[in-house]
Amino acid sequence: MKTRDDVLRKRLFILLVAVPLASQASVVDEQLASYQASGAGPFSAQKGEQLWQQEVVSEKDGRTRSCTTCHGNDLRSSGKHAKTGKAIEPLSPSVNAERLSSAKKIRKWFKRNCKWTWGRECTPQEKGDFLSFIRSQ
Ligand code: HEC
Repeated sequence: MKTRDDVLRKRLFILLVAVPLASQASVVDEQLASYQASGAGPFSAQKGEQLWQQEVVSEKDGRTRSCTTCHGNDLRSSGKHAKTGKAIEPLSPSVNAERLSSAKKIRKWFKRNCKWTWGRECTPQEKGDFLSFIRSQ
C-alpha cells in the first residue's frame, strides 16, 4: 500500500535528484551542440580522460601542469588548488550536483583553466571530450 510518506518521498526524489540531473544533462548537451556547430565532434570520454592527464611544461615556471594538478585523478574526490592550496569540490556531477549545471561557469573555467594548464585556450573538440569525460565520472 502506498502511504503518504511514499508519495512525498517520490516527489522529493523528483525534486532533488531527477530535476537537477535533467538540467545538468541539457546544459552539457547544449555545450556539445555548440561545439559541434563549430565543426567539432564526435566526442569521446576516453579521449577526454587522456587529455585530463596530458602534461604540459609551463613556460612560466618550467614545471609540469595538467588538469590533475588541481583537480586530481579521481573526479569524485576533492582537489587542491596548486597556487592557493584551497580545496576544490569534486568535479563529478554524480557526487556534486552543482557541477556542469551552468553554461556560464563551464565557459569561464574552461577559459581560465586551459590557459593556466596548457598556456592556450582549449579547442571545441577538446572541450567536448572533457565534458564527455567529466559527466561520465
Ligand atoms: C590552477 C588550478 C586548476 C587547474 C590546473 C585546473 N582547474 Fe578546473 N577549476 C579550478 C577551480 C578553482 C575551479 C572552480 C572551483 C569551484 O567551482 O569549486 C575549476 C572549475 C572547473 C570546471 C567547472 C565545473 C563546474 O561546472 O562547476 C571545469 C569544467 C574545469 N575546472 C575543468 C578543468 C580542465 C579541463 C582542466 C585542465 C585543462 C582544469 N580544470 C584545470 C582550478 C583548476
